[in-house]
Amino acid sequence: MADKLRVANIGMKFGMSHVEGAMACDAEIAALCDSNEENLRFAGERYSIPEDRWFTDYKDIVNNKDIDVATVAIPDQQHVKVSCDLLRAGKHVLCEKPLALTREDLREIIKVSDECDAKFMVGQICRFTPAFMKAKELIDLGVIGDLYFVESEYAHDYMKLVENWRADPNRHGVIGGGCHAVDLIRWLAGDPIEVFAYGTHRLLPTVPYDDATVAIMKFNDNLMGKVFVSTGCKRDYTMRTCIYGTKGTIICDNTSPTMTLFTVDEEGVVKEAETVEIVVNNHNAAGEFEVFADAILNNKPILTDAREGAKTVEVCLAIVESSQTGEKVVPKLDF
Ligand SMILES: NC(=O)c1ccc[n+]([C@@H]2O[C@H](COP(=O)([O-])OP(=O)(O)OC[C@H]3O[C@@H](n4cnc5c(N)ncnc54)[C@H](O)[C@@H]3O)[C@@H](O)[C@H]2O)c1
Repeated sequence: MADKLRVANIGMKFGMSHVEGAMACDAEIAALCDSNEENLRFAGERYSIPEDRWFTDYKDIVNNKDIDVATVAIPDQQHVKVSCDLLRAGKHVLCEKPLALTREDLREIIKVSDECDAKFMVGQICRFTPAFMKAKELIDLGVIGDLYFVESEYAHDYMKLVENWRADPNRHGVIGGGCHAVDLIRWLAGDPIEVFAYGTHRLLPTVPYDDATVAIMKFNDNLMGKVFVSTGCKRDYTMRTCIYGTKGTIICDNTSPTMTLFTVDEEGVVKEAETVEIVVNNHNAAGEFEVFADAILNNKPILTDAREGAKTVEVCLAIVESSQTGEKVVPKLDF
């Protein structure tokens, strides 16, 4: 490997954040790839990448021996096929969420990432969002005691986003966007052992799935959770999150510059709320890439590896199934 990681970024829409993340970590942008020439040119010119490093076919990245790492930010349906081809060619892969839309694809990426030496990471960006990192730190320090209820929401208006691959019936809003809230809850509280959900379909008539879903979850250790997903909401994007513990409560989201923290005094009486300043960084691509690069260069384990990404999707699939059948569903997380 050269002194600097040589990175190829595939998918030049949201994927431009990966170019910026890699650049912020002083990696070399060795290639940009997008099947749409206009999007490719836009990104190439924006980041001053020489034209001989622009590619429209990701196979040119797969076959390029001078590339160490690839980031994948293309439609969800293609994540597994493209990531597997890259891993088999020895490239380390940072792939966008959701890892996959089907159980078949989840099993495939786990198998291939197990077989290959290269590192594989799912970009569960909320684990790099300052407000949620602070919440995790406070929980781990015991500041709010033992958790008994955790709720998060993914409320994001998709009105202008659904007339493309996002309108695939397999790309239910709970999987495509709600996976952020589900992954956050799993990271903060652990794995749910049972879910139950309701859905409604009122805001996005052209999508073939519910545009709002609420799921309640049961965990071990006397703990409950709730996720609300709305992909048609009439408000600004938010992932408002409330974490209730036996000694305090945290209220935060990914778009607010402050977090509210309640704690108790020695007698268990709630003290005046503290306002904690937060740097808003909703898509901390640099923080995400930094962790990935460190894992590659220093051979460290990846926390959001294929199994972890698969567990998040599996909980999402269980929520969708429950909302459609009206039955409780036990997520099968034994990958
Ligand atoms: N982490 C987040 O918060 C976040 C936010 C937005 C999108 N995403 C994820 O990022 C991915 C991309 O989303 P988007 O909003 O950029 O979608 P998009 O449809 O706006 O853009 C996708 C881009 O990929 C290109 N593309 C499609 N197939 C390709 C292929 N085989 N090879 C090369 N290029 C290809 C398209 O031409 C397009 O430029 C999705 O998986 C999405 O779920 C994550």
